[in-house]
Amino acid sequence: MTILVTGATGNIGRKVVDELLARGITDIRALTVDPARAALPAGVAVVRGYVRKPDTLRAAFDGVERMYLAPAPDTVDEVVALARAAGVRHIVDLSGEPDSWWGTVSNAVEASGLVWTHLWPGDFMENTRIWAHQIRETGTVREPDPDAGSTPIAMDDIAAVAAAALTGDDHIGRAYSLTGPEKLTRAQLLAQLASALGREIEFVRATREETIRALTTAMGDTAAWYVDNVLTGLDGITLPVNRVAEEILGRPAMTFAEWAARYASGIFGPDSGQRD
Ligand SMILES: NC(=O)c1ccc[n+]([C@@H]2O[C@H](COP(=O)([O-])OP(=O)(O)OC[C@H]3O[C@@H](n4cnc5c(N)ncnc54)[C@H](OP(=O)(O)O)[C@@H]3O)[C@@H](O)[C@H]2O)c1
Repeated sequence: MTILVTGATGNIGRKVVDELLARGITDIRALTVDPARAALPAGVAVVRGYVRKPDTLRAAFDGVERMYLAPAPDTVDEVVALARAAGVRHIVDLSGEPDSWWGTVSNAVEASGLVWTHLWPGDFMENTRIWAHQIRETGTVREPDPDAGSTPIAMDDIAAVAAAALTGDDHIGRAYSLTGPEKLTRAQLLAQLASALGREIEFVRATREETIRALTTAMGDTAAWYVDNVLTGLDGITLPVNRVAEEILGRPAMTFAEWAARYASGIFGPDSGQRD
């Protein structure tokens, strides 16, 4: 049974490859734009292609039974039609609720007639990367509301859930809203990062404009959208904590403190600038 991972060097796709290997899966095909640079683990079959360029996918789908579908709303209709024509049976997609931006992906996958598992994460722990530049440069984080909170999940856990769904039929027809194990305010997230880094980082309550300025290096033109649509009213768009990942994985989901202990120095530390 060949399992195809698309966007295989992407943030989540790369971890899906590792999680499948950890489950003892040997027939993994990894789709990536540049196989020579992909540096995927030995034993993984690497093929060239990209879900935003469907004409690159025909060979990649040959003999595939299940696939992890990286999110690409613009081309998803064509991608799932090609997958179906090639005999793919089950798609595990990173997507969102039907009426959301990422819902385009869920809707297309369901309309394809293939069986599916949807992964609908809320906030990602990795989204704190938008603070990396200002933490390194100023030792502060500027945002309007230190008490706004979210329930972020680690990409490691999303990938582990994807691997669980890709290795059996137990999760077919399920849409999983995925959260981390706790709700944390922006100030709490920052305090836990500071603790993992062993340094002081001040949360500075800032205006909309100051916040956009502070985020522009990391986010470019999307900083204003992010402040207006995510940070403003964050509690209202945040999923309540659930235990879906824990129940699927049979172990606790990663806490933000654990995530920070593992990743904070690589993302926010003094030598991490080139990774922004
Ligand atoms: N509910 C939600 O919040 C939700 C739902 C769905 C998606 N999302 C979004 O999906 C993202 C998932 O992250 P991800 O890194 O795993 O997936 P991604 O950003 O969609 O995929 C990135 C991968 O696609 C490939 N790629 C090829 N050409 C590219 C190009 N021109 N531009 C960008 N990527 C290219 C690269 O992998 P290869 O080189 O291996 O081809 C790259 O590493 C999150 O950051 C999030 O914003 C969010």
